[in-house]
Amino acid sequence: MKSGLEDVVAAETRLSDVDGAHGRLIIRGHSLDDLVGHSTYEDVIALLFDGYFASEADLPRALGKARSEVFAHLAVVDASLLALPPVDAMRALLARLPDGEDLPSALRLIAGPAVFTAGLIRLRQGLDVIAPDASMSHAADTLRMTHGTVPSPEQTAALDRYLMTVSDHGLNASTFASRVVASTQAGLTSSVLAALSALKGPLHGGAPGPVLDALDGVGSPDNASAWLEAALARGDRLMGFGHRVYRVRDPRADALKTAVRLLANGGAIDPARLALAEAVEAAALDLLKRKKPDRALDTNVEFYTALLLEALGFPRETFTCVFAMGRTSGWLAHAREQALTGRLIRPMSVYVGPSVAVAA
Ligand code: ACO
Repeated sequence: MKSGLEDVVAAETRLSDVDGAHGRLIIRGHSLDDLVGHSTYEDVIALLFDGYFASEADLPRALGKARSEVFAHLAVVDASLLALPPVDAMRALLARLPDGEDLPSALRLIAGPAVFTAGLIRLRQGLDVIAPDASMSHAADTLRMTHGTVPSPEQTAALDRYLMTVSDHGLNASTFASRVVASTQAGLTSSVLAALSALKGPLHGGAPGPVLDALDGVGSPDNASAWLEAALARGDRLMGFGHRVYRVRDPRADALKTAVRLLANGGAIDPARLALAEAVEAAALDLLKRKKPDRALDTNVEFYTALLLEALGFPRETFTCVFAMGRTSGWLAHAREQALTGRLIRPMSVYVGPSVAVAA
């Protein structure tokens, strides 16, 4: 029995392969490196949905229409919802979307995190919400609904690259949660809510906010080693490092590091912030190598996510919501893949509590 189910195979999937030994991520036969250079997030949704949902000739437009449909739900946001952490408020809004199994239901569940995150960010700042523009790409419209201005091509490309990068990733905790719920035939909204609840924890999708907290705590590059060493001495984990499956570098970290560099070249990232992050990364890798020489603990997706989303103007408390914008497509495809097997997921536990004598 392994309490983290490590190395346990619990599903057969055609969706993605996390090749931990070689540091590769394959999504439906394409390597992540190829996808991020040549596709859009909408292309990746179509790829993931192929064979699991009805095909749609104009998926960008259908997704835009779905954004317009879910926008009405922002009308219910009141002070009690705004007082919640954004990911919890977003979960409450997503829970308003009825359970279904078809493509329109799925697209509304992808649209929801984008529209709700943008709306919640503005409402928390005392600003009016901005209605979706169904003719724009998902990434561009998300930035426009968040900031009220049409984003630059570089900003749109950076968010699009991020959404693709996090779209699917094997049987991670949130995707497993999605499949467990789907196996009960509960419906897509229920699967996405379960997955989002798993994602929000700091050991999964809740890490990038704390990455920025660590950068702020370090303050300057020359303080990186001392600050991180003290954190490790306290028994803290260094956020943005380590992975259950990758034994070499997380390929998603590379994809996002490239996006961060492109934004930095365009002047969208303060060079001092980038220098601080690079110093923290180098010091953390050095310390983790010394702490665990037998176990390669490398940079994971969350480290450069933090810098990228900060540069795109998302408040750090909404980073998990932005992660969900991308990962929902994977959750939905996995949910359908599981539901189509018709098989309920129901493993066994080993009872280790006090026993009761069997009556003679
Ligand atoms: N900082 C310090 N030590 C670490 C870290 C880290 N980031 N990651 C692993 N270790 C250490 C552990 O303390 C453990 O040491 P021990 O054997 O002395 O107890 C050893 O390395 C092995 O760690 P495990 O917990 O077995 O590794 P696991 O595979 O379960 O953990 C995880 C993976 C949860 C991601 C872990 O590396 C971690 O906590 N990282 C920090 C949080 C983070 O960045 N999360 C985002 C992950 S990416 C994603 O989900 C999208």
